Amino acid sequence: MIKDLRGYIDYLSKSGMLGTLDSSANPELEISAITDRENREHRCESRSLLFSKAEGYDIPVVTNLMGSMSVLKRLFSGFGVADFLSSVYYAKGMSMVNGARTLMDSRPKVARRGFAGYRKIRSLDELPILKTWPKDAGRYITLPLVITRSPKDGTTNVGVYRMQVFDGETTGMHWQVQKGGAVHASEAAELESQLNVSVAIGTDPFNILSAVAPLPHGINEFSFAGVARKAKTALLDCGDYPAVPANSEIIINGYVDPVEKRDEGPYGDHTGYYSIQEPTYVFHVKNIYAKKNPVYAASVVGFPWSEDCTAGLFLMEYLKPMLRLVNPNITDIYLPPEGAFTNMCFIKVKKRFPGDVKKAMFSILGMGQLSLTKTVVAFDDDIDLRDLGRVFWAISTRVDPDRDVQIIKGTATDTLDHASGSPARGSKMLIDATRKGRDDGYTREWPETLAPDKGLAKEIDRKWSQIS
Ligand SMILES: Cc1cc2nc3c(=O)[nH]c(=O)nc-3n(C[C@H](O)[C@H](O)[C@H](O)COP(=O)(O)O)c2cc1C
Repeated sequence: MIKDLRGYIDYLSKSGMLGTLDSSANPELEISAITDRENREHRCESRSLLFSKAEGYDIPVVTNLMGSMSVLKRLFSGFGVADFLSSVYYAKGMSMVNGARTLMDSRPKVARRGFAGYRKIRSLDELPILKTWPKDAGRYITLPLVITRSPKDGTTNVGVYRMQVFDGETTGMHWQVQKGGAVHASEAAELESQLNVSVAIGTDPFNILSAVAPLPHGINEFSFAGVARKAKTALLDCGDYPAVPANSEIIINGYVDPVEKRDEGPYGDHTGYYSIQEPTYVFHVKNIYAKKNPVYAASVVGFPWSEDCTAGLFLMEYLKPMLRLVNPNITDIYLPPEGAFTNMCFIKVKKRFPGDVKKAMFSILGMGQLSLTKTVVAFDDDIDLRDLGRVFWAISTRVDPDRDVQIIKGTATDTLDHASGSPARGSKMLIDATRKGRDDGYTREWPETLAPDKGLAKEIDRKWSQIS
């Protein structure tokens, strides 16, 4: 079993999915550029990279921990939370009671109190924090597990939100308004209190993926990790601060004052643009602890392909049963990385009654993080959503713009939508690229799609191979 980040690095090494650079590499631009090169070359089968000598530091850096789809699939194989939900839905194999027990049994447990095995670090300046792109405003902690507790009901949230280093003891806290950390910050603002925050850097892959996963609010990410790992998440009690994974390489405790904002950015984002400077929350560091000889974990994002594309595609497949639970007629979903995930969402819809396709598209706009989607396009069963050629063919041949395109104005959008006129406010587009019939007000006869004669297939194969 993979116990911690080092265990994961060993696992990656044995799987042939670890690249190691033993000569020195600069955390300022070099480590990120090398990681970006790996991602562009190997896309969703990129290796994790271990930089054993981060120039100017005695702490090694590992990047691309989510870079390989086959590794993620292997780690998360078998029973998961999504399987639990689908098994309830399709009533195959597992009763609701047993499934619920599985989730309860996976609740994290506080394994330890106190920081035995850790040493205290004075300043963030001692960590090999990366500067990713040349025009970034500075160094950013890019793979922090940011842990908060609801000041109202005590529930825990874990998310990965970038943290720009302002100085040795202050950073930005870039949780977007819709995310769990921001929800807790606004609860703290209502109570006129500060929000204590813990940050864990470098832990096992189950904790990391769970922090990234777009889970419904209220599902504890550490429980989710426990189901996937098939062993409870062990936590370390941090007193007044939220508990962190007991296997964290680096732990930071501090607080956010919800009324304090400071300019953050520019930052080279996964949209392929520099996100512009905007006010964001400020995180004040109180304590930093590091294991003896810690490994610093970082993520590098940019133009597709980067590891968040691989993680995003993996999580989309893994969590698909949750979508089907609410929307059984959405038989497939694909968020092309080329659309920076939130800008474009393709769904396959099985029409059951008039207006069903629209209903399915609207439901995407109302569902968790999928609601950030800018454009939703619906297709029939004959279109492979991952085949962009077929996708464009269907949009081009099955859409009458007046009838099939809807613009919805004045909605909340992703803060990463750089095209909208003001931050996080903009419009949505729904495109119905399915074949039309009488229910859609289509009075003509829909033409049949071309297909070769199936009976001739073998003969054609044989003759094809004879062509010289
Ligand atoms: C490398 C990486 C960096 C991310 N940076 C941010 C960020 O700065 N702000 C943000 O709101 N989400 C960011 N995300 C996405 C969140 O981690 C993701 O939406 C997660 O589901 C949020 O959890 P929550 O719903 O508990 O808030 C990032 C994801 C990855 C993989």
